[in-house]
Amino acid sequence: MSLDRRFLVWALGYAVLGMCLGIYMAASQNHGEFVTHAHILLIGFVLSLVYGLIHRLWLEGPARPLANLQFWLHQLAALVLCTGLFLLYGNFMPLATLDPILGVASVGVLIGMLLMLYLVVKGSKARSPALP
Ligand code: HEM
Ligand code: HEM
Repeated sequence: MSLDRRFLVWALGYAVLGMCLGIYMAASQNHGEFVTHAHILLIGFVLSLVYGLIHRLWLEGPARPLANLQFWLHQLAALVLCTGLFLLYGNFMPLATLDPILGVASVGVLIGMLLMLYLVVKGSKARSPALP
């Protein structure tokens, strides 16, 4: 599967997960997990969708190993961060245990963004000529 499509599928998966949590919060009138909900949707759904669009619109034949690394790093970091937030805001595990994990996952999300910046700067798709 092409990388833009892979990002799209994962993005929609996060959207389903985030919306389920949103509906659960609304139905239970317990908004304790709203930070988790926000980041599943923003780091999971929105960022993955944006990365997919960047692949589709601005990247042509990017260095495959680097593009794959960027994909898996973002997904792994997003999953760990969202799971960590879920455990933290649901009071399932103490902050002292989760803090280093959340820290590493946050840096993972940031490195994913830096890798995407590098891919865009190094290998932009030539713009199609303007229509007359
Ligand atoms: C089925 C759809 C959704 C439901 C039922 C839902 C429900 C909720 C609920 C109950 C809250 C907590 C509000 C509060 O206590 O302040 C919330 C917060 C939030 N939601 Fe959703 N949501 C949905 C979709 C989305 C989507 C698609 C996004 C973004 C792409 C989103 C982003 C956010 C953000 C950023 C917050 C935190 C807002 C704040 O800082 O107060 N939500 N949502
Ligand atoms: C490295 C990744 C990120 C980290 C470590 C991070 C961390 C945080 C923290 C600590 C808060 C405050 C939570 C609280 O109120 O207790 C927050 C809030 C928020 N962040 Fe992030 N964030 C990240 C990425 C993003 C991204 C990519 C977006 C949007 C595209 C985003 C949107 C928001 C929004 C809307 C809020 C306010 C709603 C809320 O409190 O949940 N964040 N973030």
